[in-house]
Amino acid sequence: MSLDSRHEAAAPPAIRIRTELPGPKSRALLAERRRWVPAGVSEARHGVFFERAEGARLTDVDGNVFLDFAGGIGCLNAGHGAPRVLARVREQLERLQHACFMVAPYEPYVALARKLCGIAPIAGETRAALFNSGAEAVENAVKIARRATGRPAVLAFDPGFHGRTLLALSLTSKTTPYRDGFGPFAPEVYRFPVPDLSRFLSSNVNPSSIACAVIEPVMGEGGFIVPPKALLIELSRLCRQHGIVLVADEIQTGFGRTGAMFASEGAGLEPDLVCMAKSLSNGFPLSAVVGRAALMDAVQPGGLGGTFGGNPVACAAALGAIETLEQENLPRRAQEIGAVVGARFAGFVERFPFVADARGVGAMRALELVTDRATLAPDKARAERVLSLAASRGLLVLSAGLHGNVLRTLMPLVMSDAELAEGLAVLEACLAEVA
Ligand SMILES: Cc1ncc(COP(=O)(O)O)c(C=O)c1O
Repeated sequence: MSLDSRHEAAAPPAIRIRTELPGPKSRALLAERRRWVPAGVSEARHGVFFERAEGARLTDVDGNVFLDFAGGIGCLNAGHGAPRVLARVREQLERLQHACFMVAPYEPYVALARKLCGIAPIAGETRAALFNSGAEAVENAVKIARRATGRPAVLAFDPGFHGRTLLALSLTSKTTPYRDGFGPFAPEVYRFPVPDLSRFLSSNVNPSSIACAVIEPVMGEGGFIVPPKALLIELSRLCRQHGIVLVADEIQTGFGRTGAMFASEGAGLEPDLVCMAKSLSNGFPLSAVVGRAALMDAVQPGGLGGTFGGNPVACAAALGAIETLEQENLPRRAQEIGAVVGARFAGFVERFPFVADARGVGAMRALELVTDRATLAPDKARAERVLSLAASRGLLVLSAGLHGNVLRTLMPLVMSDAELAEGLAVLEACLAEVA
């Protein structure tokens, strides 16, 4: 290939920053936001407001184009504006927007339940119940497990994250900002680090009083911690042995992110119930609990549900999102993205002394920043500088981890090779600048 033709073949850069950041329209919106929205809803560090998006690109209100390594916290595996999602949503919007499935049922709920039962990582007969948010799915999984077992206790694992409502928060590890000042928490919740599994069972809570154990196959907010496969196999075995319902929280790991439709599949986890949300519906508010029929059917009529749960437009979005993941083989694309990002991140560990670890599964990749490699003391300040710098150069990235010192990738899986390379180059330049 001649130099010229290579030049022609190269895609123009995705990122286009034309104003100072935040631009004038964003600054005006930021002032309004500070007047009307409480500080407890955390403010994006970059101060930029967005008005449209396509694929893996976001355009702000001043016309600047950003690359998206965040995906609305992992909700956009099928990409912003995925055509199959849009088509189904438009069609559904014209027909029926809300009726409440328990009052005036509609087909999209049933079609989605059938689909989710077909793809969930659970053998045998299954059922699916739909809700609005990830936290609500977790709360309902616990309700189902308690009702089915007649037991009160719930096991959760550090550093897990399961949401911000009271019961979900009681299962969540991070003190600041999630738990501070919100207690007392729900009783009968026992949290402990994954490696201490059997010791914990013998010292803290009698297994015969445990309804369920709730675990993320890869701990997302906790910093993309990948529990050893042997531990997840042992947890599955212990749950079976003691009649404990095993709940996989696949809210962040699900729908292709880790290279399989669900992370449990390769992780050795054999769940009885699976919580789903985020990329389930490509950004529409929707969540699900899918589980063994005998457990799901243990709940009395009216014990599950809610006014909006399984909204028909959100169900249509989910059917379009799953169709996109399957037709475009996006789990496979997550493996490709993961291979590129993983290799590049391994290089960052070599190049930058403050990058102590690169880890993850599939396209769910993370870098851990420390002040000292020997003690692994977390470097939150440097992580925040990298995120701010990246945003100022048109790349949206998120942090994670109990200490906020982990950078993580949750890009739409439709991201092109060129966009991925461009985003990684920006990230590397930012890491070099804070070195
Ligand atoms: C693993 C996991 N569980 C639960 C939740 C809570 O979901 P939601 O914010 O939709 O309530 C999240 C959100 O980040 C999550 O990552």
